[in-house]
Amino acid sequence: MRSVIDILDLTVEELDGLVKVADDIIENPNKYSEKCKGKKLATLFFEPSTRTRLSFEAAMYELGGNVLGFSEAQSSSAAKGESVADTAKTVSCYADIIAMRHPKEGAPLVASYNATIPVINAGDGGHNHPTQTLADLLTIHREKGRFDNLTVGFCGDLKFGRTVHSLINALSRYSGIKFVLISPDELKLPSYIKKEVLEKNNLEYVQTTNLEEVMPQLDILYMTRVQRERFFNEEDYLRLKDSYILTPEKLTNAKKDLSIMHPLPRVNEISVAIDEDPRACYFKQVLYGKYMRMALILKLLEIE
Ligand code: CP
Repeated sequence: MRSVIDILDLTVEELDGLVKVADDIIENPNKYSEKCKGKKLATLFFEPSTRTRLSFEAAMYELGGNVLGFSEAQSSSAAKGESVADTAKTVSCYADIIAMRHPKEGAPLVASYNATIPVINAGDGGHNHPTQTLADLLTIHREKGRFDNLTVGFCGDLKFGRTVHSLINALSRYSGIKFVLISPDELKLPSYIKKEVLEKNNLEYVQTTNLEEVMPQLDILYMTRVQRERFFNEEDYLRLKDSYILTPEKLTNAKKDLSIMHPLPRVNEISVAIDEDPRACYFKQVLYGKYMRMALILKLLEIE
């Protein structure tokens, strides 16, 4: 019985395997339509979500399985003080696999220690979001045909942006990756990730506050939302929230084959005028997330 709490729980070979399965699901959806017949996915969401929860649920339905769960802590016994450990033990009696989102870093890990079924981290606080990374990897692979020799710019809230942390971890294992970290000083990538991931693996990276200056170098621009829910102080959020707004003018010097990514939800970071630009990939990420979650459910349930 295996859980996925961190993207590093999956080897590079396993990530490549998931990409292959997702590509096959896209080509041959009917082949997979009954693979999870009789199986149940529990979606335990203690924090709001549109894409992650609904794509997990759509993924299980498209595999022929069923779904149960809750979409807010208030509608579960957590509101009465039940622990994550007891919730995980309880849900193990009703379902075959759990996808859990929680505002506290480490909560899905605690769940995995107590569950008797696989647990998937669907986002824990400002920490990690491994299945968004799966969506991002499939997008990168389908757009670029490779994971190595890419210059990847991350822009916005790199401090609290859990999707950034997980994708940096995933890409750190490929060769020829250069990271360009674009953020206000207050929202820089946490130093523990710089030390333990970038510096430990001798990865090339630069930090800047100026998006336009680095734009011409980028193969991928990964925009992010400033994470209001993680701020202690509303004044700081209001001051920083519009630090970067991508408009068509700002793409003047960008590569013709730049891939513009964003995990969504978008607030103000990307002008809607960019949605029709062929380089915009963020709604492809939404769709690919479902296929990668299908591939992951099959893997963790050990279904061929
Ligand atoms: N990308 C992402 O996690 O979106 P949701 O918060 O809507 O699930």
